Amino acid sequence: MEILQRVEKPWGLDDFLLRPCCGLLSGSNVWKIFHMQFNGNTDASSARYWNDIAELYQKETRISTSDFHYGPLLPGDSQLELLPNIGKNSGGIFQCLEIGCGAGQNSIFLAKQGAQCVAIDISEEQLAHGRKLAAKENVNVDFRCVSMDSLQEGAWEPASFDLIHSSYALPFSADPAKVISDCAAMLKLGGTLLLTTGHPLYAGEWLDIGDGEDGVFLPDYFQLEADVRMSMDDKTMNAAQTWPISQIAEWIYNAGLVIERLLEPAPLPIPDMSKKEILEKVPYDSKGWRALYDQLARIPVVVIFKCRRA
Ligand SMILES: C[S@@+](CC[C@H](N)C(=O)[O-])C[C@H]1O[C@@H](n2cnc3c(N)ncnc32)[C@H](O)[C@@H]1O
Repeated sequence: MEILQRVEKPWGLDDFLLRPCCGLLSGSNVWKIFHMQFNGNTDASSARYWNDIAELYQKETRISTSDFHYGPLLPGDSQLELLPNIGKNSGGIFQCLEIGCGAGQNSIFLAKQGAQCVAIDISEEQLAHGRKLAAKENVNVDFRCVSMDSLQEGAWEPASFDLIHSSYALPFSADPAKVISDCAAMLKLGGTLLLTTGHPLYAGEWLDIGDGEDGVFLPDYFQLEADVRMSMDDKTMNAAQTWPISQIAEWIYNAGLVIERLLEPAPLPIPDMSKKEILEKVPYDSKGWRALYDQLARIPVVVIFKCRRA
């Protein structure tokens, strides 16, 4: 079967992240060279990359603080109902930690429900947006610049948190198994890890094979290609990695956590929704993601694990 055309890859999380890729994909050799030059994320390169794009990310993406989001165009927790009961814990205030928080909209949402929230990120620029937003919303969130790859440097006691949550930050980790086992150690007994990460199918390339047919081409499910991006100033590469679902489940199992739920959510029916409904029901939205709706409606962009420390 002849492939007529590569369609823009269902690329990163954000419309502006499409920028470096569309051109490169039209000359696939250039893309391969770009890939070969990349040696993996470090704390320093991730901080540079995210500092560079933080402003645009926060400007171009509408992220609600009135619901808990799981990713682009997806239903929020008001519909998925995965969050534990914030009011219920072993006594005292419900303690939450967000990993790779960006501007911490999910932490701000939880703080509004009365939880005590710590939110970490590698990018000071992202954190600065978070601090401003929390002040505007009149809630307290303890924003800290800590890498998820060195969670112990946060100096938290083991078993400190009722809930650890993360939305699309794990793909940027240099050591995801360690992130998950560190999270497990920091959870109280009975505590919840709510982990949203990239779906492995999303590592595929969207191909138009003619006659109105298109779909995902995934060369190797067991060795998934990283999604390598270039910063706006063309100086720093950063990669988002996905893994087979069974691999992530194995890390969770090895960390001593029990998986209670596993979701591959489909987007809300955006084309059939009014502006008002979208504002109310879609907590994470951008023009760029709307342009990819047809792809998102056919392959999951994220996988969500709800896990408990038993
Ligand atoms: C796609 S954004 C998601 C941000 C936020 N969770 C949201 O849903 O808007 C990924 C975030 O991970 C952060 N990040 C990347 N590498 C990190 C690391 N090693 N430690 C902590 N945060 C990191 C980035 O700075 C960025 O804010």
